Amino acid sequence: MSSVTGQKEHQGTAQTQQPHPVHSSDASVQAPVKLELDGVRKSFGSRRKPLPVIDGVSLQVREGEFVSLIGPSGSGKSTLFHLIGGLLQPDGGEIRLDGRIINGERGHIGYMPQQPALFPWRTIEENVVLDREINGIPRRESLDEARRWMARAGLSGFETAYPHMLSGGMQQRASFVRALLSPHGLMCLDEPFSALDAFNRSEMQAWLLDIWEETRRSVLFITHHIEEALLLSDTIYVLSGRPSSVLKRIEVPFPRPRREEIAESPEFLALRRELTGWMKEEQRKSREGTGGRSV
Ligand SMILES: Nc1ncnc2c1ncn2[C@@H]1O[C@H](COP(=O)(O)OP(=O)(O)OP(=O)(O)O)[C@@H](O)[C@H]1O
Ligand SMILES: [Mg+2]
Repeated sequence: MSSVTGQKEHQGTAQTQQPHPVHSSDASVQAPVKLELDGVRKSFGSRRKPLPVIDGVSLQVREGEFVSLIGPSGSGKSTLFHLIGGLLQPDGGEIRLDGRIINGERGHIGYMPQQPALFPWRTIEENVVLDREINGIPRRESLDEARRWMARAGLSGFETAYPHMLSGGMQQRASFVRALLSPHGLMCLDEPFSALDAFNRSEMQAWLLDIWEETRRSVLFITHHIEEALLLSDTIYVLSGRPSSVLKRIEVPFPRPRREEIAESPEFLALRRELTGWMKEEQRKSREGTGGRSV
């Protein structure tokens, strides 16, 4: 298990220091670690003028666990996903999937990027099954399932449309279904609902919650939306401003299955207040250029 140095562990508001996670969902109590980041570092820019973006991030996603990452804009969340997906090489540290180092290796995760990134020359259903196709699953076999999930995502009737014929929110939902259908055990979702209005967002959250509770895949989820993170996650990592490190690790104490009504409970509201306070503080430090570090 990687070091959690510098991270404060919270279980609800109790702020108990715990060497091992104790999860509210039974499925992940003793579950093996699916993904582990151990002291991952990344800078951009030139050798003479580096821009440090990720500064020793360590985190874990267990099998069947739903983990969220929140942090100020520009703190390096999407960069972390590019590192996990092998689009970038870390400057230091290890990324392990099922115990094996995958630094710089592609093709191991289901990934929904922050921008939908659908191929314009493929129809929506062809885009949705792409990851399975790349992994050798015949297209015909995947299309039936794809159509079922597309219907659940409100995309019925658009199966053979091309991406430019869809709204931004619809493209985002198609990109989400593609990640969902990917044959990999770990799904990395980068702000999947950011282009949706409040009503659609809440519908998609409920939908994701249902699907996740049905399938219990391992999920790493980036969001700016604190309520969303609390509603969906087993564990939340709060990142500092750039260069980012893990400031806090919160174990979300609500039992599953969860429904949106938990958002009205005093415990939920207290956690939300606490997280909002930290995030405001981090945003302020980021704006003032203190890089999210205590000064
Ligand atoms: N390929 C790149 N080359 C140079 N700089 C980059 C590159 N990718 C990201 N950056 C820089 O790294 C920093 C972190 O970017 P990143 O997109 O990871 O932030 P983020 O936390 O996802 O932000 P947001 O919440 O706004 O999506 C930014 O300063 C960005 O300009
Ligand atoms: Mg981002």
